[in-house]
Amino acid sequence: MFDIEQLAEAVTEPSARGIAAAVGRLISDGTCEAGTRLPTVREVSRRLGLSPTTVSDAWQRLARFGLVEGRGRLGTFVTPRTRTGGARRYRSMTSAAGHVDLDLSTGSPDPLLLPDIVAAVGRLQAASMATNYWERPVLPALEELLRERQPFAAESLTVVDGALDALDRVATWALGLGDRVIVENPAFPPLLDLLDLVGAEVIPVGGDDEGMDPVAFAKALELRPRAVFLQPRAHNPTGRSMSTARAEQLAGLLAGHSTLVVEDDHSGDISTSPNLSLGRWLPERTVRITSFSKSHGPDLRLAAVAGPHDVIDAVVERRAIGPAWSSRILQGVLAALLEDPVAVSTVERARETYCVRRHALVAALHEHGVEVGGSDGINLWVPTEDERSSTVSLAARSIGVAPGFPFEAAPLPTEHIRVTVSMVRDDVQSVAAALAEAVQGRRSSGRHQSR
Ligand SMILES: Cc1ncc(COP(=O)(O)O)c(C=O)c1O
Repeated sequence: MFDIEQLAEAVTEPSARGIAAAVGRLISDGTCEAGTRLPTVREVSRRLGLSPTTVSDAWQRLARFGLVEGRGRLGTFVTPRTRTGGARRYRSMTSAAGHVDLDLSTGSPDPLLLPDIVAAVGRLQAASMATNYWERPVLPALEELLRERQPFAAESLTVVDGALDALDRVATWALGLGDRVIVENPAFPPLLDLLDLVGAEVIPVGGDDEGMDPVAFAKALELRPRAVFLQPRAHNPTGRSMSTARAEQLAGLLAGHSTLVVEDDHSGDISTSPNLSLGRWLPERTVRITSFSKSHGPDLRLAAVAGPHDVIDAVVERRAIGPAWSSRILQGVLAALLEDPVAVSTVERARETYCVRRHALVAALHEHGVEVGGSDGINLWVPTEDERSSTVSLAARSIGVAPGFPFEAAPLPTEHIRVTVSMVRDDVQSVAAALAEAVQGRRSSGRHQSR
């Protein structure tokens, strides 16, 4: 039985977001069990003195996070939480794929800016292919190239099937039920799904344009986290990159702790910021993941994972009783592309083009009074009055964007949509106008009540 008085006590902010967060807390601390029926919108609105629209928005928000489900006239119920929940946040990032004319929800690179993989496959040598199960997991030629690119001298390096695979393997090895983990807020939704799955307790730390907030970071360290997961540059979704000063400061704060640092350099070669790592100060416990999906193609799905022996060797050992290695055919293709001058200049051009597209859209949004931070990578984190109505109104114009809520490790003060700018080729002005109208809709139309 849901206790409406407990809810009234738990609500610290009289808004849809505040009510949803309060119910979320009651669910996660076990006060409100799976199968419990939520009170009706009318009951809650009367008790809290808020409009039914606000309460109904809160219920919808909870449903989008998968915490409750509507069962028609029976009402809305708390859903059972299983540890095998899977890609809940990840799946809710896009419902647009294939249904809109301009899909800016994907986080993917522009296929026209990728190097020619087919040509590289055609030049493959038989020597780069595995003929039995017992060869080394990484092609020696590729390992040499990848080591040269590391921002610090890592003890070990291996290659896995993309940055997400690397995050999965490192998290699964390093974390157990109840382990605390610092994450950036906002963060990459599949990482949050993954941490849920392993039963880790997330400590969200906000930040500014230089990286994670050092004061909040120091406070989070007091909880003795087992690991910190961060994106050093072209942070998805905000587009920020860590400054050297901030990296040094965070490394200094970590000095008295044994916390493992896991860096997800998902943008790799398309990033315009320096290849900075906390491993410069903490090489013995920094794991650096470098993806080639954005620069060389998501279908190569290869990432380097470099770091201390114990972590990397454990990943290699665990993979030995699974896929064991990432196809050497693909590794051979990547090695060839990294050395081929034509491919190198294609990637360089892609980096410059994304930078131009990003800055053009940010400038055009600014003209409309919409301010967007960050400066690197293919994603824009655009503030909005109401992310749901923004995504819906853009979808009505056949533009797909990702809602902000899956990225929230904890509720943020402002709602957002995430816009992948990689595909905004030449229609910057019209896209900016549509985005601005969608994110300012509530303010300009005054149709909705404030949160
Ligand atoms: C922050 C972040 N990490 C990881 C990934 C996935 O990378 P990969 O394709 O190498 O698995 C992405 C993809 O967009 C990302 O944005």
